[in-house]
Amino acid sequence: MGAAAVGGGGGGERRAAEAPPAPLAGWLAGRPGGPLRVVVLSGAGLSAGSGLATFRGADGHWQRYRPEELATPQAFARRPEVVWEWYAARFRAAAAAEPNAGHREIARWEGRFTSLTVVTQNVDGLHQRAGTPDPLELHGSLVRARCAACGERLPMADAVARPGAPPRCACGGRLRPDVVWFGEALPIDALSRADHAARKADLFVVAGTSAQVFPAAGLIEVAARAGALVVEVNPEATPFSSLAGLRLAGPAEVELPRLGRWIAP
Ligand code: OAD
Repeated sequence: MGAAAVGGGGGGERRAAEAPPAPLAGWLAGRPGGPLRVVVLSGAGLSAGSGLATFRGADGHWQRYRPEELATPQAFARRPEVVWEWYAARFRAAAAAEPNAGHREIARWEGRFTSLTVVTQNVDGLHQRAGTPDPLELHGSLVRARCAACGERLPMADAVARPGAPPRCACGGRLRPDVVWFGEALPIDALSRADHAARKADLFVVAGTSAQVFPAAGLIEVAARAGALVVEVNPEATPFSSLAGLRLAGPAEVELPRLGRWIAP
């Protein structure tokens, strides 16, 4: 590993590999062949390169709408049609989008480390479609619908094909997206597995999140305190940037493949 390393480029061309930045180079040199437990925490910025809107960016959802109007149980009780239609539109956009090079790079890391845990706040299903088999979806999934009354789950694709906004379950209850709304509990199993992985992480990669929503953002501090090298992939700084040993200040679809050339060549 280093500036002298030569990698094979596309089409058989050979080019000098870019040396890793100093914090990562020193860190990699300190653990030759040792266990490497990697955790990725992703947010909406990871899917920006697939054309999906973020929440807090210039064109983000929360620039146009207030979260309380769309992403709470109270909003669904007050205006079920509006809330359903908003999530149905987001589901259609996600279904029409393709995973980008950032999602694909994370999927490529499967089997390359002692362990890899992908934790996501995203509900768009793009990690799975890129090939990550079992991401911990802290905020649920827009790929599924759930009956607000009996809890029965079904594919969102089936739910949006039914009449009604929102459509009804066989039990008569309203269908809702199987996501976590503000004020609701996160899935306990996913959260405790994510917390455990953060405590054990050697390398904690934060990609495309503004790190403003807890408890997801708190995982960054958990990992940093436990001694992980935190790598933040985000064009913008965040409240947790000071914990990052390395900041890759560009789009995830560019910077994650770059990171991968250093940690999983
Ligand atoms: P945000 O919209 O808050 O933050 C997106 C982040 O991605 C910002 O920090 C951007 O700078 C960054 N970004 C934009 N384009 C990027 C790119 N191409 N590559 C890398 N980074 C990029 O989204 P989240 O942090 O995911 O929760 O938001 C967290 C939660 O807040 C969401 O899960 C959602 C929302 O309210 C619920 O609805 C419960």
